[in-house]
Amino acid sequence: MRFTINGEDIDVKADIRTSLLDLLRNNLGFTGTKKGCDQGACGACTVLVDGERINSCLALAVQYQGRSITTVEGLASNGNLHPLQQAFIEHEGFQCGYCTPGQLCSAIGMMGEVNRNVPSVVTKQLMAASVALDEIELRERMSGNLCRCGAYNGIVDAISQALV
Ligand code: FES
Repeated sequence: MRFTINGEDIDVKADIRTSLLDLLRNNLGFTGTKKGCDQGACGACTVLVDGERINSCLALAVQYQGRSITTVEGLASNGNLHPLQQAFIEHEGFQCGYCTPGQLCSAIGMMGEVNRNVPSVVTKQLMAASVALDEIELRERMSGNLCRCGAYNGIVDAISQALV
C-alpha cells in the first residue's frame, strides 16, 4: 500500500485487514495516534485524511491508499508547534494527554467542516432560532472526542483561541 503521511510518500506492506490505526501505530511507528475504544466511540484515534477527520480505528488502511494522511506528528512545522498545539498548552487543554492527539486532529478537521458549511445538529437548531454560532456549537462538533480527565473547558478555550 502507498500513502502520503505527514507530507512523505510511504510504501508499506500490511495485511489487507489492517485498520488505518494499527497500520499507523504498529507498521509505521506513528504512535502519537492513540487507541482508546477501538470501536469508534472515543475519538482518540482521529486523524485527517485529505483534511477530513476520521476515526482511524474504523477505517481499513487499504481503503485510503493514495490519500494524504495527517497525524499529530505532522501538525508542527519547522520546529514550531501548530497554533492549536500552542493554545492547548496555554489553556491547559489536557491532563493526562492521551486524548490530545485526537482532539487536535479533530478540531482542525472540524474547522474545515465549518468552512465548508457542513451543518452540525446544533447548527441546524441555531440556524432555525437565528442564534449566532458559539461555544455550544463548538462543543457539539467536538462531542466525538472524549476526555476522561474532563479537561473540556480548557480544550474549548484552546480551540476558540486558535481556530474559531
Ligand atoms: Fe477509535 Fe476510540 S479508538 S474511536
